[in-house]
Amino acid sequence: MRRVVFNHKGGVGKSTITCNLAAVSAAGGARVLVVDLDPQGNSTQYLLGKNGRELEPTLADFFEEILGFPHRPKKPDEFVHGTRFERLDVLPSHPMLADQQGKLESRYKVFKLREALAELDKKYDFIYIDTPPALNFFTRSALIATDCLLIPFDCDNFSRRALYSLLKDIAEIRADHNVGLMVEGIVVNQFLPRARLPQKMVQELIDEGLPVLQPYLSSSVKVCESHECAKPLIYLTPKHKLTLEYVAVHTALEERRQVEARKRASSVIEIGQRIRSSLPHDGLGSATQAG
Ligand SMILES: Nc1ncnc2c1ncn2[C@@H]1O[C@H](COP(=O)(O)OP(=O)(O)O)[C@@H](O)[C@H]1O
Ligand SMILES: [Mg+2]
Repeated sequence: MRRVVFNHKGGVGKSTITCNLAAVSAAGGARVLVVDLDPQGNSTQYLLGKNGRELEPTLADFFEEILGFPHRPKKPDEFVHGTRFERLDVLPSHPMLADQQGKLESRYKVFKLREALAELDKKYDFIYIDTPPALNFFTRSALIATDCLLIPFDCDNFSRRALYSLLKDIAEIRADHNVGLMVEGIVVNQFLPRARLPQKMVQELIDEGLPVLQPYLSSSVKVCESHECAKPLIYLTPKHKLTLEYVAVHTALEERRQVEARKRASSVIEIGQRIRSSLPHDGLGSATQAG
């Protein structure tokens, strides 16, 4: 399954949330890929360390091939790199992505990421996608390519306003290009439980029926430390309060996914039963004979 983490506001925790949830998935036994679509490459550095920016090929090489249309294109998994964490791989970003955007957009390459991820699905249980802080070619590609969207929310009033315009954009992309696009949840990040305003803001989102995920992620200096040593929290400090909150958010997402899958399965059975009961008594047999 594919999961995009996006909010067009910067600094809300997209890269931190992407990498830490991906790490929780991998530590739990899943095969996981992180695709870093942000030219700033924070997820790339977080998972690969300082050398991450020197690795080749990157996502920019992937898009260069799309533009160059070579006779023998590389397979999507040839752009992927392993990390020092078991079962956790990265399709790394590169600053050049920023320069490629215009060309990719004008040549209608917005479905190419979806095609590549369909190939990579065969190798991974989860594909997490980190995004830049703008609704641009890369984030559109991601939203077209994904099943699920997580929206980080940092309890700030600007963030709240950004959320409503984001939900409108999502509805448009769903209607135009990706009917399966589901807002899986809003991840409340850097929550201060003792401050009144953040509580009020989150409560307002819940009252409006938005899918706010529990628990909320606390603010902790461990995040900074974890970036510094390029080690997601589950590997750095597995028993820390924030790590356990990440694990709980991950579990909540898995439970939702299972509920959705059961609902889909039972609606398929129901449709089958309705078709059967609408046929004449010996409907199936006579249809076969008639054919
Ligand atoms: N739970 C948290 N506690 C403390 N700092 C956090 C937390 N989550 C994110 N941060 C900090 O917030 C800043 C922005 O996070 P980042 O993941 O880079 O956001 P984005 O990708 O949306 O720009 C970073 O400096 C990061 O260390
Ligand atoms: Mg980021």
